[in-house]
This record gives sequence, C-alpha cells and structure tokens, in this order.
Amino acid sequence: MSKIYKIALMPGDGIGPEVIAESVKLLDAVAEQSDFSFEYTEVLAGGAAIDAQNDPMPQHTVDICKSSDAVLLGAVGGPKWDNLTGAMRPESGLLKIRKELGAFANLRPVAVPPSLAESSPLRPAAVIGVDLLTVRELIGGIYFGRPSGNDGQEAFNTMRYTVGEIERVARVAFEWARKRRNKVTSVDKANVLDVSRLWRDTVKKLHAAEFSDVALDHMYIDNASMQMVINPRQFDVIVTGNLFGDILSDVSATLGGSLGLLPSASIGSGVGLFEPVHGSAPDLAGQGKANPIAMILSTAMMLDSLGESRSATAIRQGLDAALGYNSRTGDLWHEGYKKISTSEMGDLIRTETLKNLY
Ligand code: IPM
Ligand code: MN
Repeated sequence: MSKIYKIALMPGDGIGPEVIAESVKLLDAVAEQSDFSFEYTEVLAGGAAIDAQNDPMPQHTVDICKSSDAVLLGAVGGPKWDNLTGAMRPESGLLKIRKELGAFANLRPVAVPPSLAESSPLRPAAVIGVDLLTVRELIGGIYFGRPSGNDGQEAFNTMRYTVGEIERVARVAFEWARKRRNKVTSVDKANVLDVSRLWRDTVKKLHAAEFSDVALDHMYIDNASMQMVINPRQFDVIVTGNLFGDILSDVSATLGGSLGLLPSASIGSGVGLFEPVHGSAPDLAGQGKANPIAMILSTAMMLDSLGESRSATAIRQGLDAALGYNSRTGDLWHEGYKKISTSEMGDLIRTETLKNLY
C-alpha cells in the first residue's frame, strides 16, 4: 500500500488561502507521479480563527496539527485585527503553534539564481550566486521571555536563553553546514548583552566539542545586517536568536528582489511547520497578485523533511525552469517581462515540475 501523508492546512488570512491553493495543486500533481498521496485537513488560524471562534489558535487546530505528519501555513494577520492586543492577536496564534509543536529551529534559505538577480535592489553582480541559510531560534528569546509587561507608563520584555536552548539550535546549524559549504556564522550582540555572551560562549564550546571540522565565526547583529547587504555571498549558514533572526531574514529576503520568494521550515521535536516568511499582504489579497513561490518552496522543504527528496528536487528544478520564462508576478515584474497571476505562476511551476517526474 502506498504511503498517505496527513497534512494540516492552515490557509490563514490575506493572501494565505491563494498561495496555499497553489501548493495543494502542486502536491496532488506530484503525488500522481509518485508512490504516495496526501490527506489534507483544513484548520483555522489567525484572523480567520478569531472571526469564527474568537481565538487565533483554537485547541482543535493545535490537536489536528500535532496528529499530522506536517503542517502547511499560508499567512496570518491583517488590518481587520490590528486593534486587538496580546493573546488575541493573530500573530499570537502563530507563536502559539510554533511553541506547541516544539519547533525551535526556523530554517530560512535564500538563493539567488542569475534569473532573479535583475529583480534585486542590489547590483546583480553583488547577489548572483548567493546561497545562504538562516537558522533562527524560534520558541525562546525575547519573543517568549518572562517577565514581560506593559502598565501604560512602562513596558518591558526579557531576552532570555538557556545553554540547552542555544545548544539545540546551534546543533541544527552545524549539521546543515556539514551538508552545505561547512561554515557557520553565529550572530549576536555580545558587546552589549549578557544573553548574547552566553550565546557566544555556548556556540564556541559546542563547536570545540562536536563540530571543530566546521568553520565558525561570530558577528554582531548590526554588522551582520550590513554584511548581508554589502557582501551576502560570504554567508553559508547563519545561526541566531529569535529577534535577530526575524530581522536578518527579512533583510536576506530582499537579495532576490522579493519577500515573496523566501520559504521557511520550522522544525524541532515533532511535527514540522512550513510557511512562507512573508505576511498576509492584505493589499494584494483576493486579486491573484500574490507570488506563490515562497509557499511552493516551503512545500518543497516539507517534502524533504518527509523524506520525499526526489519530489522536492523536482519542484526546485521546476521553479528554476519556470523562472527561465519571462513571466513574473507583480512583486518581481519589471520592463520586458509578462505580468502573470498567482495561479498562472503556480501552473507554470507545476508544469515544469512534472517534466522532472515522468
Ligand atoms: C515571521 C513573522 C512573525 C515573527 C510574526 C508574524 C509573529 O514576522 O515569521 O518572521 O515575528 O516571527
Ligand atoms: Mn518576520
């Protein structure tokens, strides 16, 4: 009997449903050419869940996710819910599911093939060949640290890491480096923050004990942000805390010209969560203008994590071939290109992917 993967689908808000639809069409097409299939359960998250159940991450959604093989998430949030605070915000739902799944490592790869270099705000010569992976700690640091509070006159958050939390995410980074170009850059603010000094010491000790074959360097977050713009090709794997990783990965996303390109995988103790780095883009929602590439690359990362790397590779090669046509969604469009819709881009990638699977 062929394998059936149980996939929880969380379309979420804004462009989330449109991009996730392209992933589902692609997965089903890939499955037809393979010895596995997918069984989807659609669940509510973010603003959509607030509207329906007054809770951005209902327990039912958490339960379904935990009993699935993987979770695909579109995007959450939007102006409609911007006046909500604290645990009622759509974003809190996202933080909650990451935490519930124990997804402590967030992988955000960026590669800039020659076909995208022209869309970059940087000079093509500076970005062609960029191939980096940010490993962001996802369920600790200042996003979750206690105490935190806001009494209207004073507000505070706590950036807190334990040795164990640092070690487990650094280990993921070192292991990825071994599969790539064997280099890790650890990013912190150890010239100012105690928590960063513990971060740096811990990464150094782990390196000496288990990963001395991997090249390791350390950078302050301010310098790393600048280096990302002036010389991004120097990076292979970057490992950093939750807040620094949030910021640095958005910077890295601009290298290829659009946040609509950047996928992510959040992995850890159990079920992986696969989501584009971009948000719900309310200004684009419902118009077929969204770029499905980040969602589709997140889907390829999901297939890799399920052990279906032949299909994942077929998708990545299909995407490369699709980008060879002079067709782009609006975010990447410029003179000389044809502007196409979300589903047209999805169709193109699917057609090219299938050519690799016959
Ligand atoms: C991201 C997003 C989220 C984050 C928000 C929506 C909570 O910016 O995935 O990068 O800050 O982690
Ligand atoms: Mn972010």
